[in-house]
Amino acid sequence: MKMKWWQTAVIYQVYPRSFQDSDGDGVGDLKGIIERLGYLEQLGITAIWLSPVYQSPNDDNGYDISDYQAIMTEFGTMDDMDELIKQAKVRNIKIIMDLVVNHTSDEHKWFIESSKSKDNPYRDYYVWRDPVNGEAPNSLRSTFSGSAWQYDEASGQYFLHLFSKRQPDLNWENEKVRQEVWDMMNFWLDKGVGGFRMDVIDLVGKIPDEEITGNGPKLHEYLQDMHRETFGKHDVLTVGETWGATPEIAKLYSDPKRNELSMVFQFEHVSLDQIEGREKWDLKPLQVSELKNILGKWQTALGNEGWNSLFWNNHDLPRIVSRWGNDSTYHAESAKMFAILLHLMKGTPYIYQGEEIGMTNYPVSDISEINDIESVNMYHERLANGYTKEEILASINVKGRDNARTPMQWDDTENSGFTTGIPWLHVNPNSREINVAANLENPNSIFFCYQKLIKLRKENPIVVWGDYELVTDVPEQVFMYLRRYEDQTWVVVANFGEEKVSLELPDFGQSDDVIISNYERSSVNFNQLALNPYEAFAVKV
Ligand code: GLC
Repeated sequence: MKMKWWQTAVIYQVYPRSFQDSDGDGVGDLKGIIERLGYLEQLGITAIWLSPVYQSPNDDNGYDISDYQAIMTEFGTMDDMDELIKQAKVRNIKIIMDLVVNHTSDEHKWFIESSKSKDNPYRDYYVWRDPVNGEAPNSLRSTFSGSAWQYDEASGQYFLHLFSKRQPDLNWENEKVRQEVWDMMNFWLDKGVGGFRMDVIDLVGKIPDEEITGNGPKLHEYLQDMHRETFGKHDVLTVGETWGATPEIAKLYSDPKRNELSMVFQFEHVSLDQIEGREKWDLKPLQVSELKNILGKWQTALGNEGWNSLFWNNHDLPRIVSRWGNDSTYHAESAKMFAILLHLMKGTPYIYQGEEIGMTNYPVSDISEINDIESVNMYHERLANGYTKEEILASINVKGRDNARTPMQWDDTENSGFTTGIPWLHVNPNSREINVAANLENPNSIFFCYQKLIKLRKENPIVVWGDYELVTDVPEQVFMYLRRYEDQTWVVVANFGEEKVSLELPDFGQSDDVIISNYERSSVNFNQLALNPYEAFAVKV
């Protein structure tokens, strides 16, 4: 595989609404991001994945776009956007745009036209169907609860929305739609962006009449067309959000010979605490052995025919330190443990804003504290289905998307330095202790652990290219793997437990070459090793 910049890169996701407010309206903005570029440069990241900043009525916080070539008024102007790209470039940081083209907002001019009449030239930009026996065409469901079909009184037809009813699905079978998307992508590429993160891209090949949504038959043909018509001529990163991807499917997207995407986000590892076949809210405890198997499978299965992305968090997922770590007694230890474990694997790591300082889930006690449409819709649906408020709030506290969307915790002042106004979403009460300023003052902080991991990746080809091997002869709660490159071997060990655990692995001997660790540790004796709660380290052997 020819080496690409994104193979040695570390990406940082900014959720603009919650990153930094510069004008006191309680909502983050582009000028705020520009103010914080120095911080991101200090962390050492290569690129920012910017969650949507386009014009949007914010039914789903920008994932419902009404104009792809304009900036959301609350976030600033196109001049601010150009300035962000320029200022980031000065610091060697690329800007990766969120490409949301499975659907638009119902306020997009295409949909406004499309809704006007059955013979409007834009009618076929969206998926309209006649009723069947006076009801919705079929039983497709929206990710945000209820039917995926919305009835339109005026025309007597239904339109498809796999997300909220204010996010009508585009009809990708219409060549004009695809051409519009290519033109829009080229508009952004001409501005010098570093690539695209492609929102639910696995859905664009859907065949609604057969109830096929993900991985439709024409999906890869569309992506090859997209590659040829848009980013193929640029040296950019493209990453697809693909919920159901298996390694075989991931190769279709990311095998360089196929000219599709750089990589995909697979979600198998972050679905391990969900009861199979049920909804994300239906929880079961994580089995560490399952996590080892799944992450290990992805590490080896792509070979040279694809490339992995590595992540624990994003704006749709709860905070990892609260989810599978311990966000009280072992807060710093477990946050660093997740960082060390993931960042020394093969693939491109993604850090979600606040992860690098160990931000935690927000404790919700009432639905009025929630903004996220997914949680709000689920709340009402489950209440109607007989669940208690307590049960529903318990699952929102564990899996709700707002857990990760509370404002960035910059310092210990009121509203955490995020805004001088009233924040659009509550600041986590622990911002007095968990914040950027406190992290930057402490050389042992979570921030500096992330900074070091990023540096290790930049400076050591073994982190980028080394072979991966899972060590299986260890207790359930210990995740241990090797990386091998030329004549080097690194051993990475992580204890997922709150209990101490002993290991006896004489084959690995003793090493005084500790690369990184989350406890004081200058040597490791594998003949007899006692691991502390949530201890993690990497050593050369
Ligand atoms: C993706 C986004 C999510 C959004 C959905 C619809 O899953 O990550 O935030 O709600 O697509 O655009």
